[in-house]
Amino acid sequence: MSDNADFFIIKAKENGVNVIGLTRGTDTRFHHSEKLDKGEVMIAQFTEHTSAVKVRGKAIIQTRHGTIDTEE
Ligand code: TRP
Repeated sequence: MSDNADFFIIKAKENGVNVIGLTRGTDTRFHHSEKLDKGEVMIAQFTEHTSAVKVRGKAIIQTRHGTIDTEE
């Protein structure tokens, strides 16, 4: 499933940005938190385990639907 899923990119604009993965299925909870420092980039996919992602902190998020940044 995740083999051919789209990737999305998160680029941290400050230290300590959190990328939080939320579980797929009836139970929606945090299952992974990744901390990015300024300039660090994470490339990820939605998978059978991850249906949603929350980004906390100043970052640019690029998906095939477009690019968005979190508010300052
Ligand atoms: N083990 C997780 C998964 O396969 C890794 C992961 C994929 C992840 N995409 C993510 C973690 C996005 C956080 C955010 O689903």
